[in-house]
Amino acid sequence: MTLSADPGTPTLYGASPTGRRITTRDLIAAKARGEKWPMITAYDALTARIFDEAGIPVMLVGDSAANVVYGYDSTVPVTVDELLPLAAAVVRGSKRALVVGDLPFGSYQASPQQALETAARFMKEAGVQAVKLEGGARVLPQVEMLVSAGVPVMAHLGLTPQSVNQLGGYRVQGRGEDGEILMGDAKAMEAAGAFAVVLEVVPSELAERVTRSLSIPTIGIGAGAATDAQVLVWQDMAGMSPGRPPKFVKRYAELGAALGDAARHWADDVVAGTYPGPEHQYS
Ligand code: KIV
Repeated sequence: MTLSADPGTPTLYGASPTGRRITTRDLIAAKARGEKWPMITAYDALTARIFDEAGIPVMLVGDSAANVVYGYDSTVPVTVDELLPLAAAVVRGSKRALVVGDLPFGSYQASPQQALETAARFMKEAGVQAVKLEGGARVLPQVEMLVSAGVPVMAHLGLTPQSVNQLGGYRVQGRGEDGEILMGDAKAMEAAGAFAVVLEVVPSELAERVTRSLSIPTIGIGAGAATDAQVLVWQDMAGMSPGRPPKFVKRYAELGAALGDAARHWADDVVAGTYPGPEHQYS
């Protein structure tokens, strides 16, 4: 794996020269160096270990677990109690990545106090190093409270899936005049002390302007190529998710098809009596 033209320069993606976990300071330093990096979702120890060993510097235990782990049809129903064990498993499965826990719908909107209580559970019970929450100006008091309590906060703007019922579907956000509102939200998140901002399904030109306007990293998903980082749900990236993926997804493998083939092959062997063979048996 080629990590950097200069072997003396620490990079976010790849082997850690220090053996410690990535910190939010490392992410902000990477922005200053103009270095791009990947963030991926993870929901269990086994995949967390694979992504950690692949050198992915940031893992998000997303509330997308609602869809890909729990089978809900949106992220709205998933609870803190459902996400905490997944976050704990990702922390246990990784050594180097910064692990971010996603605060689910209803666990932070009511008040800054509620946000702090939920974030504290993610940090104490799961061991995550940061949390993410959705929304701009409307969650500003929550972000300020968390930051003042020492909780690193990743903001999330644009298409915020927890608000799908209000947005009227999964559609592009920030077009036209809405772009200036999003820009204002992004600057407010930075001023409140957020260490990064996810920009989901917004015009590429807007994401580029926001990225240039902030000194904290932007993390794009369906936001074009100019953001400092990119994030995908791993099952989308690896071809595990059923159906037609959104336009912004690139599939780097077809693991769903490969797993189905493996399951059918094994089941055929069981039915035919050719598994287990002599080499799989004890005497
Ligand atoms: O829950 C999630 O996976 C997310 C990312 C897609 C940004 O919020």
